[in-house]
Amino acid sequence: MLGSGGREHALSWKLAQSRLLTEQGGKLYAAPGNPGIAQYAELVALDVADHASVVSFCDAHDIGLVVIGPEAPLVDGLADSLRGEGFSVFGPSKAAAQLEGSKGFTKDLCERANIPTAGYVRTTTLDHALKALDDFRAPYVLKADGLASGKGVVIAETRTDAEEALSDMFGGAFGDAGAEVVIEEFLTGEEASFFVLTDGASIMPIGSAQDHKRVGDGDTGPNTGGMGAYSPARVLGPTLRREAIERIVAPTVRAMADEGMPYSGVLYAGLMLTPEGPKLIEYNCRFGDPECQVLMLRLEADLGELLLACAENRLGAMEPAKLSDRTALTVVMAAEGYPGDPQKGGKIGNLDKAEADGAKVFHAGTALDAEGKLIANGGRVLNVTALGGSVSEAQAAAYRAVLAVDFPTGFYRRDIGYREVAREAAREQLG
Ligand code: AMP
Ligand code: GLY
Repeated sequence: MLGSGGREHALSWKLAQSRLLTEQGGKLYAAPGNPGIAQYAELVALDVADHASVVSFCDAHDIGLVVIGPEAPLVDGLADSLRGEGFSVFGPSKAAAQLEGSKGFTKDLCERANIPTAGYVRTTTLDHALKALDDFRAPYVLKADGLASGKGVVIAETRTDAEEALSDMFGGAFGDAGAEVVIEEFLTGEEASFFVLTDGASIMPIGSAQDHKRVGDGDTGPNTGGMGAYSPARVLGPTLRREAIERIVAPTVRAMADEGMPYSGVLYAGLMLTPEGPKLIEYNCRFGDPECQVLMLRLEADLGELLLACAENRLGAMEPAKLSDRTALTVVMAAEGYPGDPQKGGKIGNLDKAEADGAKVFHAGTALDAEGKLIANGGRVLNVTALGGSVSEAQAAAYRAVLAVDFPTGFYRRDIGYREVAREAAREQLG
């Protein structure tokens, strides 16, 4: 397992229950991992940017499957370096990871494959971008082409704001990621995330989710990597899900294979449910964080076997992944200061109390201090995750667990799942 966040803790927790490890004598290593992951895996200090060192570790330890959690090493071609040496890898090649690594690449692919998405223009100079604004109306959607840790999207309410944002982007505000900027039509609707496993030929849905990106209650304040999520996304019912597969995901997988870049791994589609049907907002080439945490809590299948089947191009022979009908909800506890400069070193306690009622606390940015005590070591620190018969029940269970956690320098949103909770309450009144 490569990575160190809450997503990787959730994957490790689930992998540790896999027959590959419990019955077939496998052993889990994680690099660099975190103190939560250390409960199931031996942690190793590996620099994922140094492909040769990852390959030599895998060689020395006879690794049967490498699971790459985050996008950066995928976009950087780590999967290719490992496959080139004969290792089984869960995660797309560098070419296929362009679906996340280049917004322009994905928009062009959508155009070629006739996949519903927002209208767009790719621009590589400020001059061209400023002129291209003529073809759009406010609000303007401006996206740095490359990876920008989820921060590369600007929604500008006025033309002046858009012009300013474009100058910043071409002026290097997002580094190399902003050397090209995609300008998009603004879509309206509710957002939902949809996840499938694919080996480049077969597609297996592995759940849906909705997240809360803004730092503050009521979806206010700056954007973050995600302050909470729940699964399933009830708004993405069976009909819309089928439509998303048939019109968006399947044509993408087919086009990638046809063009010699078969996509293998998890494909995360960010969808806008517009009045004209689902449209693609963006693709990610890995599980969402914290969406993965709620998916793993619901997954009833053997994750190790599924990921290995993806890596070995035999997903089509597997039973569809079973997910619990229950709702999972996760609340992110972040360190004071996030998403700016988070306070490091804050003490964390009582995680056992938080888990006493069946909730699961995944570690994201945690570390051990010199005395071996758990401390905060990043922006998003803990993902407190629980199941319930409805979103309201899952929300109540997750917040009971949050209240049991002792993390004085932390904070969290108090309204994760609020839209769905309101809809449930409305249905109850009608019902
Ligand atoms: P992305 O990083 O592409 O997911 O964009 C971040 C967020 O910006 C999305 O989750 C949406 O809320 C919003 N967004 C991106 N593209 C559009 C669009 N074309 N229309 C409306 N909102 C968008
Ligand atoms: N939570 C959003 C993401 O992982 O991209």
